[in-house]
Amino acid sequence: MPAEFFEPISNQKTPPVYNFFDGTAWKTSSSEKMLSVLSPIDGSEVGELQAVTHQEIDAVMEVAAAAQRNWEATPLNKRVSIMHLVADWIRHFEDYLTTILVKEIGKTDSEARSEIKRTADLTDYFADEAQSIRGETLDSDNFPGYDKGRIAVIERVAYGVTVAIAPFNYPVNLSVSKIVPALLMGNSVVFKPPTQGGISGVHLTRIFEKAGVPAGAITCITGEGNSIGDYLVSHPKTDLITFTGSSDTGVAIAQKAGMKPMVFECGGNNPAVVMPDADMNLTAREIVKGAFSYAGQRCTAIKYVLGAPGVLDQLLPVVLTQMKELVHMGDPRSPETKLVGPVVSVRAAEQFQQWIDESVGKGAKVAIGGTHKGNYMDPTVLTSVNSDMPVVSREVFGPVVSFIAVPGMDEAIGIINKSSFGLQACVFTKDEGTGLAFAKNINVGTVQINGSPQRGPDHFPFLGVKKSGLGVQGVRYSLEAMSRLKPIVINKPS
Ligand code: G3H
Repeated sequence: MPAEFFEPISNQKTPPVYNFFDGTAWKTSSSEKMLSVLSPIDGSEVGELQAVTHQEIDAVMEVAAAAQRNWEATPLNKRVSIMHLVADWIRHFEDYLTTILVKEIGKTDSEARSEIKRTADLTDYFADEAQSIRGETLDSDNFPGYDKGRIAVIERVAYGVTVAIAPFNYPVNLSVSKIVPALLMGNSVVFKPPTQGGISGVHLTRIFEKAGVPAGAITCITGEGNSIGDYLVSHPKTDLITFTGSSDTGVAIAQKAGMKPMVFECGGNNPAVVMPDADMNLTAREIVKGAFSYAGQRCTAIKYVLGAPGVLDQLLPVVLTQMKELVHMGDPRSPETKLVGPVVSVRAAEQFQQWIDESVGKGAKVAIGGTHKGNYMDPTVLTSVNSDMPVVSREVFGPVVSFIAVPGMDEAIGIINKSSFGLQACVFTKDEGTGLAFAKNINVGTVQINGSPQRGPDHFPFLGVKKSGLGVQGVRYSLEAMSRLKPIVINKPS
């Protein structure tokens, strides 16, 4: 069944060459240039993606713009039904998509499977929630000086053509979290999957096509970010950009895109703050899961821990003990591997190693780990770190967490607020009042009390401040972010 369903998306060779989708057909690019996708597990080739040309992008943008009006005019109940069908297909292909994800991005089987299940649930939830998004009417006489002479009929309408750019770490889930709300609100979507994760992305596009998204309303183009990404975001036919990726890329996109609406989820570097009264077992477990899940390659991963010296001395042995139980680095296909498989590339591992070494050179101490072999990094805990060291000032998108001793909470707040990132933070304390007081003083998107940072549940608002993001996501918030208000004012002169 998968072979038949996904037949047109590749040339069926081993390893396959995947086509791009121009809105009506699966095509090979005239560029004849391919991007090789290598498995982080062992460097073997998973497949090749087309590097599309700018002319091909122009044609796709035309098709997407032409299809958008009809798509928006399609009754919402029909768009909702199509999205439920997308969710059903994703569930149907759970095993198949899980296998691709494991191979393509090196997630463990359970992490990959949970991404697929979560994505199907998310799609259904989006579709249900879209049913309750509605406009409103406003009378004019509430405002001083106005009588009842006008009424505003405020509709929620699509922006037009949405460019959706997804990252490698959740190539199914973070693609759907963009494509589905954009489509439900009547936008057409030009989907640019990551290169690593692009094979999952083209499979996902096929599901949208087969579920009945009409010609042109969904397209999928593949290629290198620095060649086609820039072209796409600055394209005159692009009406909305939704992007997840690094902060540096986010800043670059914003500069190139000019005055286009954007919804961005960027880098994290999230702190955990441990109060003296914290439950050490719970805190350690959350820090271990928070720092090491998917080898630390989550924008919501915990990257540093702040606490008084005595508190950190108490916490460290508990963290190291829990790591023995919860973490085992290795091949993500092995049932023995827990949380930490390979990082995405050898280059990434080498960069993180350099930051670890530089930090050690400046006085940081390795409590465990601190080395790598190829792109397999030992789960690493560093102590005696300060916030100017690269392991904290940079976003280490790998399995590394740093302990920073601080004399008091004012210093902890100072470190968090001076960071250029502001996605999430967490605080551990038995006194929720202390947690709340702390939460009010820090400038991040979300504060978690007694739990590690995370995006889910997916209907909660998800946002970052400073270099961590623009706009708000989360089911209802994404539907709102991917549509705009359109007031039509009826004037009733008396
Ligand atoms: O990497 C960024 C993701 O939005 C993190 O999602 O908290 O569910 O792992 P997560």
